[in-house]
Amino acid sequence: MAKIHQTFVCQSCGAVYNRWRGRCEACNGWNTIVEETGATGPQAGPVKTRPSRARGRVFALEGLTGEVKEAPRIPSGINELDRVTGGGFVRGSVILLGGDPGIGKSTLLMQASAAMARTGERVVYISGEEAVAQVRLRAERLGLSSAEVELAAETNVEDIVETLSQGRPPALAIIDSIQTMWTETVESAPGTVTQVRGSAQTLIRFAKTSGTAVILVGHVTKDGQIAGPRVVEHMVDAVASFEGDQGHHFRILRAVKNRFGPTDEIGVFEMTDMGLAEVPNPSALFLAGRDHAAPGTAVFAGMEGTRPLLVEIQALVAPSSLGMPRRAVVGWDPNRLSMVLAVLEAHGGIRLGTHDVYLNVAGGLRISEPAADLAVAAALVSSLSGATLPPETVYFGEIGLSGAVRPVAQAPARLKEALKLGFAKAVMPQGRGEGGDGALTTEALRHIADMVAGIASNGPRRGASRRGHNPPDYGDDD
Ligand code: TYD
Ligand code: MG
Repeated sequence: MAKIHQTFVCQSCGAVYNRWRGRCEACNGWNTIVEETGATGPQAGPVKTRPSRARGRVFALEGLTGEVKEAPRIPSGINELDRVTGGGFVRGSVILLGGDPGIGKSTLLMQASAAMARTGERVVYISGEEAVAQVRLRAERLGLSSAEVELAAETNVEDIVETLSQGRPPALAIIDSIQTMWTETVESAPGTVTQVRGSAQTLIRFAKTSGTAVILVGHVTKDGQIAGPRVVEHMVDAVASFEGDQGHHFRILRAVKNRFGPTDEIGVFEMTDMGLAEVPNPSALFLAGRDHAAPGTAVFAGMEGTRPLLVEIQALVAPSSLGMPRRAVVGWDPNRLSMVLAVLEAHGGIRLGTHDVYLNVAGGLRISEPAADLAVAAALVSSLSGATLPPETVYFGEIGLSGAVRPVAQAPARLKEALKLGFAKAVMPQGRGEGGDGALTTEALRHIADMVAGIASNGPRRGASRRGHNPPDYGDDD
């Protein structure tokens, strides 16, 4: 039996201490350590109830080529969701769905439940946060009240597992949310890491033995961690996060970990009055409302998994009144921005040391590809010089520290998407995919300096030269 006494557990990463401290040594979080009563040690979980035996029980070992009775995957009926899971929920698997409160997790899962229930599968939706009436109200609003989803408001996992074990095992069970669940085998209060871990363990065991696909909803803390469930992340088969900001209508479902599928696919949804609508052509959505005439905007031909995605990168470079100029980034890696700025200074002949730099990926999208370097550089140079970039041009390519423009993967797919959306030209690295398929002109770059010169030759806007700094040394075309 595990020893029961007071322990101090970090609510962010699950590290256990024997006395309180202000800062967790494991994850460096401040004020995350809370006193808990319960089993100690990193393996603390359900208390062992079986009497210990001197010898183990013999179990059957099986070959890899056993019979699989049912289809291993159950499509959800929502294409954008299936794209992220890799073609549907795997039977017996557990998915953790994280996201900010109010982003639409419950809405998405209610729609998925209803769609799956309509195919004749048994679907159970357990809400630990809302009363049955509230969940019904939402279903009604979504026009889904006729779907045969089984509904309950419950928080005790033993009761939930016992109930789900009655009758035909459900194809899908949704637990909304894991932070509200509690198990009798652990003494800590609900919501603590120990409880979350204990409850998740019980539910995961149920999924594996019954073949039910279980989705655990997890809340996200201010700093983007799935609170508490960070300790659950390694126990589950897949982790997906639902992102977007309240100011924008669209939402992105992203796989963070997936034992049964890709991790670089995204699903794009739009929040409407009637719930979440799938967005099959996200590029058109992200480019909507683009201001062609403004300097400082460049279209990046990106990839999200197997799907090309065009997005607008916006930059604003303005003289700074601060000793330490501001660099603010939304939707991209700030370290990468610093690197691109340094390369532009060192190899592009541009001085940005006395300028504030703001960078924004339009539409609230977050991109992580290094291939965005070139589009970012183009937007920055355009904003600084006041020269508008040609509106029908897309940019992609990675920039090395030497200023070299390096090839990136899947150039043909990027070009094809650009062509489909009416673009005429691509500025890209030399090498693979270059030449396109005829209809699109490509400008292959070897070095960042070539692009800087190219943008400058578009001619800066009249009166664009700014006070208080040396104008960048572009070729003078006035
Ligand atoms: P919800 O699914 O409850 O979020 P979560 O479970 O992630 O906390 O979504 C709540 C938000 O979604 C709320 O702000 C209202 C909005 N919403 C719509 O815009 N349209 C709809 O049809 C529904 C059901 C919700
Ligand atoms: Mg919810």
